Amino acid sequence: MRVHFTPGPIRSGSVRVPGDKSIAHRWLILAATARGTSRLLGLPPSLDVRSTAACLAKLSGPGRPALEAWAGNAGVASEGHGSTWNPDRPETPDWILEVEGEGRSGLVEPPDDLDCGNSGTAIRLLAGMLASVPFTSTLVGDASLSARPMERVAAPLREMGAAVRTTEGHAPIKIQGGYLRGIVSALALPSAQVKGALLFAGLGAEGSTIVTEPAATRDHTERAFAALGLPVSVEGSTITVRGGSEHQGFSASVPGDPSSAAFLVAAAVLSRVELSITGLGLNPSRLHYLQILSRMGVRTRTTVEREELGEPVGELWVAPDSELVGTEVGADELPLIIDEVPVLALLATQARGETWFAGADELRVKESDRLAGIARGIAALGGQADAEGDDLVVSGVGLRGGVADAQGDHRLAMAFAVAALRADAPCDVSGMEAADVSFPGFLSVIRELGAAVGPAS
Ligand code: S3P
Repeated sequence: MRVHFTPGPIRSGSVRVPGDKSIAHRWLILAATARGTSRLLGLPPSLDVRSTAACLAKLSGPGRPALEAWAGNAGVASEGHGSTWNPDRPETPDWILEVEGEGRSGLVEPPDDLDCGNSGTAIRLLAGMLASVPFTSTLVGDASLSARPMERVAAPLREMGAAVRTTEGHAPIKIQGGYLRGIVSALALPSAQVKGALLFAGLGAEGSTIVTEPAATRDHTERAFAALGLPVSVEGSTITVRGGSEHQGFSASVPGDPSSAAFLVAAAVLSRVELSITGLGLNPSRLHYLQILSRMGVRTRTTVEREELGEPVGELWVAPDSELVGTEVGADELPLIIDEVPVLALLATQARGETWFAGADELRVKESDRLAGIARGIAALGGQADAEGDDLVVSGVGLRGGVADAQGDHRLAMAFAVAALRADAPCDVSGMEAADVSFPGFLSVIRELGAAVGPAS
């Protein structure tokens, strides 16, 4: 789908964004492996999360009908499928998914392949969880996911005792799970997906699994385990989980996704208007982009109002009242803004001076080669950016307008769309449908805020 954007500011206002994708994957797995009933409110109907739900449906006994119905219908306004979500009104995520679980031992061998679609988080977390259950499963994905590295998760799971076969380092991944022993693992790279996979495997292992991260990454797995009373402890960069425990069903409401909010924050910054985003996840491991924005001259404020399964939730308010300035982003900061680099880079096209992102090579193995995709997209929209080795350098020379290709990548699609608000001339984004992977309803939300969005001629 090619979409046409006429430059112009959005209005000031208050909005919500769909539930957090990272959290939703984890809570769904925890619901499917709990003993008893879990009720999840506000799950985002994003394609990635629906992939996890569809895989879990194939693995679940009593939970299957609800998971299957949600995975199939979550994007459709419908009553009676546990979903009342309307894609034209993403600000009202008021559906409840009710899942029955019988613990990990209640999972069943899937009848066929588990299709993780486009989702790296789905395939890696499920690989971890499946390593400890006594049957064989095969995880597959789309062309993008099948090109991404999987040995980073397969190797430590093998060390724990699972038989894991990748396809030359990629999906399909075949897992014969069963007896696992805890390991001590110093991760070679900062990855919340790999950490999460080992912690899920650790729940089903004998003894303790001890994971040390080379740099901090999002901590949703640890927080959820602790909130459910599972034996997890965190000391500095080391997380320990003891195997053999089970958790009960739980009820929780998924907070809004701060990575989705980043696109609306950027829209407000480019439009120089105030914006409030409510019901938002305010986990500090997801908000480092606000610090980068602060260095670029943007004032923001967060107010925590409540907790959901260990996750702080509240309001983010943004007030862009000064000129944007370029900044330097160090390699040590990258893991904490890994999903926000595309939108920050596009913002940087409007900042005085240059903005550097150092050591951003991990972006090359995301849903697309984002390092190349960002540079190519900025150039296509009439700006200037270079991917030099592992670094990305963006010049604040503005955007003259043009046609950018999202390369099938949701975050590139939305970053280009938002940048178009402040371009000197109209912009088209092709492949805009990719936004549904994480933020269904994105175009409706920015249109509601006054963005001039229309079909490309
Ligand atoms: C995620 C971790 C990050 C991130 C992805 C979601 C997660 O990936 O980019 O969008 O939910 O654990 P890596 O762990 O590969 O860095």
